[in-house]
Formats: sequence, C-alpha cells, structure tokens
Amino acid sequence: MYQIDLTLPPPEEEPQRQQYFIEKCRRSVQAFYEKNHRFPRACIKTFGCQMNARDSEKLLGILTQAGYVETEDEQADLVLYNTCTVRENANNKVYGHLGTLAGYKKKNPEMKIALCGCMMQEQEVVERIRTGYRFVDLIFGTHNLYRFAELLCRCLESDSMVVDIWNDTDKIVEELPNKRKYSFKSGVNIMFGCNNFCSYCIVPYVRGRERSRKPQEIIREIEALVSDGVCEVMLLGQNVNSYGKNLETEVTFAQLLRRINEIEGLQRIRFMTSHPKDLSEELIEAIRDCDKVCHHLHLPLQSGSTRILKEMNRRYTKEQYLNLVDKLRSAVPDIAITTDIIVGFPGETEEDFEETLDVVRRVRFDSAFTFLYSKRTGTPAAAMKDQIPPETAKKRFDRLLAEVQTISAEKAMLLQGRTLPVLVEEINRQDASLVSGRLSNNSVVHFAGNEAMIGKIYPVRLEECRGFYYIGRAVSDA
Ligand code: SAH
Ligand code: SF4
Ligand code: F3S
Repeated sequence: MYQIDLTLPPPEEEPQRQQYFIEKCRRSVQAFYEKNHRFPRACIKTFGCQMNARDSEKLLGILTQAGYVETEDEQADLVLYNTCTVRENANNKVYGHLGTLAGYKKKNPEMKIALCGCMMQEQEVVERIRTGYRFVDLIFGTHNLYRFAELLCRCLESDSMVVDIWNDTDKIVEELPNKRKYSFKSGVNIMFGCNNFCSYCIVPYVRGRERSRKPQEIIREIEALVSDGVCEVMLLGQNVNSYGKNLETEVTFAQLLRRINEIEGLQRIRFMTSHPKDLSEELIEAIRDCDKVCHHLHLPLQSGSTRILKEMNRRYTKEQYLNLVDKLRSAVPDIAITTDIIVGFPGETEEDFEETLDVVRRVRFDSAFTFLYSKRTGTPAAAMKDQIPPETAKKRFDRLLAEVQTISAEKAMLLQGRTLPVLVEEINRQDASLVSGRLSNNSVVHFAGNEAMIGKIYPVRLEECRGFYYIGRAVSDA
C-alpha cells in the first residue's frame, strides 16, 4: 500500500483515485469524532436482487474503511438506500421510506441521506426526488458506484444535493474494499449489465450493456475470498450463460465453471441467473462433472405460452424449455430446478395462462417465484395494447401460486429421511439452540447446533419436512 498524500491532487487512474478519496473521507470522519466523541454511524438498506446485495457490500467496505460504524438503525448519520426498480412496488417502497427519513433528519440536521441503485438510473425518479424530496443529499447510479468515496466527499463538503448519474459505461472497476455480510460465502460478479431486452424488463436500461470480467480476475478474487474463509461462492450476472462473449479471448461460462471448480479450499459453487436460450449442452456437462457446483439451477420460465414468450422476446418456446429440463434431469438426476413466472403480461389469455400451468405441472419446479406483471415505463411491453385488468391477473396469480406451492411441498417431502450435506449459515433466528443451513439444492434445514458450526458442512438426516424447509439432525462431525 502506498502512502496517500492529500496535499497532491487526486490521481486520475482507478482504483487509486478512490483510495485517495477514502483517505479524504477518513479525515472528515476524524473531525466528526473530535466534535462528537463517537464515530459516525452508517445504515445501508438494500432493495432488489443479489447484484444489489453485492454492491451494498462494496459500499459498506468503502464506508468501513473511511471509519464509519455500521448500524441497522435508520436514525444514523448516513443512510444510503440501494434501490431496485424491477417492479412498481419496489419503487413505491423507497418513496414510502423517504418520508420517515425526513423525520429523522429533522432531529439530526447533520444527517446525510443518499440514494443509489437501479431506480436512480430513471430520469423521472431523479426529477421527482430533486423537486419533492429536497432533503436528499446525494444521488448516484449503477455505473458510477465505484466512485462512491469521491461522491461522498463532495456531499460532505456541500450543502446542496449532489447528483451524478451516468447513462452507461464500458468500465469495470474492482479491487476496492468490500465488507461481506457472511464470513463463509460471497457473491462474485462475473458480468454486469444485460443485452437481452425482454420486453417487460427495465434491467437493461438501468444496468447498461453486458460486460464480462476477465476469467483470471474472477479466479484471483475467488482465491482471495477462499483464503479469507469463504467456502461458497455465488457467481452473479443477469444472464451468466452468455458470459465471456465480449472478452478479447472468448471464454464460455462452462469453461469458467470448470476453472473455478479447480480452486482448492472452495467447497460450493452457485450461480445466477441462467437464461434458457443460452443454456448449452456444454454447460449441462460442466454442472454434471464439477463436484463443487451445487445441484440447483434457477431457470426463469416467465411464461409457458410460446406465443407470450415471443411477445416477451425470450427467444425460446415452451417445447424448448421442456426439452432443456429433460436434458438437465437426465444428466444430473437430483438437480433442483427453480424458476420465475410472470402472470398477466399484456395480451395473456386464459389459454396462455393454462400453458403456464401445464409447464408447472410437467416440470414440477422445486420452487417458483411468481410475479404479477408490472408495467415499466420505457419498456416495449408498457406500450402494448391489451393490458390485463388487475382482477383477472390476480385471480390467475392465486391459482398459479396454489399449484406451485402444492408441488413444492410434495417435492420437498421426497427428501425426508435422507442424510445430506448441509452448509451451516447462521444461528436460527427464532431458536438459538438451532442452526440453519442449506442443502446443495438450496433448501433450508434447521438442526441442533452452535455458533462454532457456522461455515462448515455437516451430514444431516432430514428428520421432518415442514413444507419448504426441514428439521434435521447432524449424524456426525463436519
Ligand atoms: N436476469 C434475470 C432476472 C432479473 S429480474 C433473468 O432473466 O432471469 C428477476 C425477475 O423479475 C425476472 O425473472 C422476472 O420474472 C421478474 N420481472 C422482471 N420484470 C418484471 C415486470 N415488469 N413485471 C413483473 N415481473 C418482472
Ligand atoms: Fe431482464 Fe431479460 Fe435481462 Fe433478465 S435477461 S435482466 S429478464 S432483460
Ligand atoms: Fe432490481 Fe436492479 Fe436487481 S432493478 S432486480 S436491483 S438489477
């Protein structure tokens, strides 16, 4: 680590530039300490998906290095919302919470309120906050997240709202601090952005174009994580199956998996999300061959109707999806398959919906996230005729949910009585004499244990299946 001299102008290159600003933030944290005889408290609230969760670990890493103390209490000196905009209700939650923050800021006028993440990439949102929520101090987006330290410095020195949003970027800046939520598992970004433009989805507009990280950088990050106690990684990307396409020397996701599988000390590899259109035979073989790759695949279906899939721009048919599931199950018989389904996409008829139910019954998903279609301004689907009345969509949604839940419970029951490896994740939140962990297929198991077991894998007998989780008993040591 080289000495940072704040009398010099900030370096141009990254990540050195951000390290300079982290040091600068440290100085203002020290000044805060001298004035208030305590360190400033920072609260980060994360909405949305695993990408955002990982981003928040990076933001927290920067804050921690600058000297902030983490808190879950929103009555803090800095509150940062990392937002999601995938569905309307994700947006509404943020506006709702902001009202509460305004009250806290009245009590503590030096409090700083910052907003970042996907919602901030939407112009109308930023305009609404500028005019209606003037107590917000800092707004930035997804493309310049790595500049958080620099923006925070500006915000601490300024009395007016600091806003910095970029439309897109081709840059990937890593190697900045991060603070993991779990000591033994970590998300690892392998790619950013999305090029698929499913017609209902806002993500490509707020996360920009697809960019893959170089394999050697990913491997180096995972090796460092393993030497820091991590035994499970979740490889993250909106469509991991198209990993590597924009790299100088093209690498497939299957090849990447095989290389990660070689990393000594790593025990489990998960990844999300897979797009059915890019799920290759090569990848199915890699899942089959790599002993560390968990037997769980999240494979979003979205709809079972080929006609609707076409309108959604998903680029596969009902039959192709069913065929993929067959191939996966013949290669890896115990693989758990989970999915996402949208109900009430514009133009969805009763017959289309029946097709979705048909796929659900045929595939028998281990679990499924079901969503009511939410209109996102700016996406092609928002302009489609024949938007479905909310009552119709809700009725279909309830029918789908009942079907999905019955099947999940039946599938979970099949493992009752088996003894399987469980990675212990935490002390059970309701009963401190229990620990909670996950099977390779991602199901949750609770069993008697203690803190020392966290991060280790135990063979556990699944004594009782209770719907979607199990009560178990460790049959031997890790
Ligand atoms: N890249 C991932 C998913 C990202 S969004 C993929 O392609 O699978 C997570 C899920 O949110 C999607 O799978 C979809 O089911 C749901 N979703 C996205 N946009 C939506 C919308 N406008 N309305 C309802 N659900 C939506
Ligand atoms: Fe959205 Fe489709 Fe990209 Fe997933 S693949 S993020 S659903 S556009
Ligand atoms: Fe939401 Fe952004 Fe993820 S819109 S789902 S947080 S990529």
